[in-house]
Parts: sequence; structure tokens; C-alpha cells
Amino acid sequence: MSKVALVTGGMGGIGTAICRQLAQQGFKVATTYSRAGREQAWLDEQAAAGFTFHAYECDVSDYEACSKMAAQIRAELGEVDVLVNNAGITKDATFKRMDKTNWDAVIRTNLDSLFNVSKQFVDGMADRGWGRVINISSINGQKGQFGQTNYSAAKAGMHGFTMALAQEVAKKGVTVNTISPGYIATDMVMAVPEDVRNKIIAGIPAGRLGKPEEIAGLIGYLVSDVAGFMTGANLAINGGQHMC
Ligand code: CAA
Ligand code: NAP
Repeated sequence: MSKVALVTGGMGGIGTAICRQLAQQGFKVATTYSRAGREQAWLDEQAAAGFTFHAYECDVSDYEACSKMAAQIRAELGEVDVLVNNAGITKDATFKRMDKTNWDAVIRTNLDSLFNVSKQFVDGMADRGWGRVINISSINGQKGQFGQTNYSAAKAGMHGFTMALAQEVAKKGVTVNTISPGYIATDMVMAVPEDVRNKIIAGIPAGRLGKPEEIAGLIGYLVSDVAGFMTGANLAINGGQHMC
């Protein structure tokens, strides 16, 4: 029987590529969305490309909504063996202009969500003796970014979560890893003003933005059985923009 994978924010740029990668590797793939209305169009588009996905409405910053979503997935698809914490937002502003609303929104969606979603599934993975948790952080959690005190703090915090949880579940066959992408061509990066974005691209040694598929490819490795010894890692994919 197929294992079940859940990708939060799977209808976004990177999320869609991850869903497709996992489906190509034989997983039954579920995803979440928080803005209702466009899910059927996305599901139809994926079906036209040959992919069958299962979509669940859930705001990952809301613990109760995550419990409800987990119960629905369990009832309809079975236990979740692979969790990709991918949902995320930006609310960029210099610290001088950063208000409490934008701070809270980014911390809740990008960091609190790791607790809210992982809590639903990790015990089950450990009990069954196999599981994969992959947290999508960012280059800006590793190096910081002008205008992103909220986002950089949340994304750095994600890797702290990864390292701690990885130690707790390592003997249970569950791996927990972080991927830290650099600038990838999705709506999130296209929302950066063009002049600012062009300056950022000029600083990437590869000379271009990354592609969502280049992130999804690494997920394909991490969920495989040969990746069982890799845990607690923070894997950078950034075209050479930041090396550590
Ligand atoms: N380093 C140093 N100084 C900088 C700077 C930088 N990186 N960026 C801007 N500044 C300076 C500007 O030159 C300007 O200086 P002066 O006042 O002397 O002219 C000053 O800071 C203000 O700059 P802006 O006019 O741009 O200020 P703003 O308030 O209009 O906008 C901002 C500020 C929102 C942070 C804007 O610069 C911005 O959007 N920056 C991009 C932030 C970014 O990289 N976001 C990534 C989003 S995608 C993502 O997050 C995905 C991922 O994980 C990679
Ligand atoms: P995107 O296209 O904007 O997708 C973001 C996804 O997150 C959307 O599907 C969105 O779904 C979902 N989401 C946002 N808030 C949510 C919430 N409260 N609850 C549930 N889902 C929510 O962005 P992306 O570029 O693919 O980013 C995916 C992840 O990669 C993010 O965590 C981002 O921080 C990270 N990342 C991106 C880049 C990059 O350069 N693009 C680089 C490094 C890291 P709804 O629209 O339905 O809310």
C-alpha cells in the first residue's frame, strides 16, 4: 500500500513541485490550503497533468484547525508517513517599520506551524518505526536579510526545532531535516520589487533564481530509504549565494 505524504502549502510554487515529486515516487499526496476558492482549479490543473492530489483546508497557524485536518486525512487516506512543513509567508519591512501584526503573522505561520502540524503526526511515525519530517526554511534564516527580522527569526527557529526533534526520534526510524532554499522563482520572490530583486539576483553566483523542481529533487532523496542516516541536517540549495 502507498505511504501517505502531507505537504503544507502544497498549492504554492515550491509546494506544487514537491507534491509532484512525491507522487512520482509513489506516495499518496495530501496538501493544505488556507485561502479557500482556488483549490478546485489547482486540483483540476494537476489532474490534467496526470496527478491526483487530496486537498484539505487548514490554517497552519491554528492548532485546532491542524487537529481537524489531521483527523480528516487519517480517516480518508490513512496515517501520514512523510510530512513536509512548507507553508510560509513573508511580511517584509525594515525593523523600524515592522509592526506587531506583521511580526506575529510570520512567526505564527512559519514557526508555530511546525508545532501545530508536526504534533499531529510525529508520535504515529515513531510508533510505526518509520517517518520523514522535512522543514522548508530559507537562506535568510541562515544569513539574515535586510527587511526580514520576522522571517529570518522564524526560519532560523525552524532549524532549531529540526535539530532538537531529530535527536528525540532518531532511534525510532524517523528523520527530521531542514532544507534552506535560496531565492526560487515563485510568487513569493516575484513580490519583491523588481529593482531590489535584480540586485539580489546579481549577488547569486549561479546568476539566476532557483527552480521549484530543484528543491523538490532533494525532497525525493530525503524521503527515500537510503536517506535513513541523514537527520538533523540543514541542507542549502542557493546557487552559491551563501556557503556555511
Ligand atoms: N542592504 C543594505 N541597505 C539596504 C538593503 C540591503 N540589503 N536593502 C535596502 N537598503 C537600503 C536602501 O538602499 C535604502 O537606503 P537609503 O534610504 O539610504 O536610500 C534604505 O535601505 C531603504 O530601502 P527601501 O527604499 O527599499 O525601503 P523600503 O522601506 O521601501 O523597503 C524592504 C524595504 C521592504 C526591506 C525592501 O528593500 C525589500 O523588499 N527588500 C527585499 C527583502 C527580501 O529579500 N525579501 C525576500 C522575500 S522572498 C523570500 O523571503 C524567500 C526566501 O526565503 C529567499
Ligand atoms: P508561495 O508560492 O507563496 O506558497 C506558499 C504556500 O503557503 C501557499 O500554498 C499558501 O497557501 C501556503 N500558506 C500560507 N499561509 C498559510 C497558512 N496560514 N496556512 C496554510 N498554508 C499557508 O511560496 P513558495 O515560494 O512556494 O514558498 C514555500 C515555502 O518555501 C515557504 O515556507 C517559503 O518561506 C519557503 N522558501 C521560499 C523561497 C523562495 O525563494 N520562493 C526561498 C526559501 C524558502 P494559501 O495561499 O492557500 O494560503
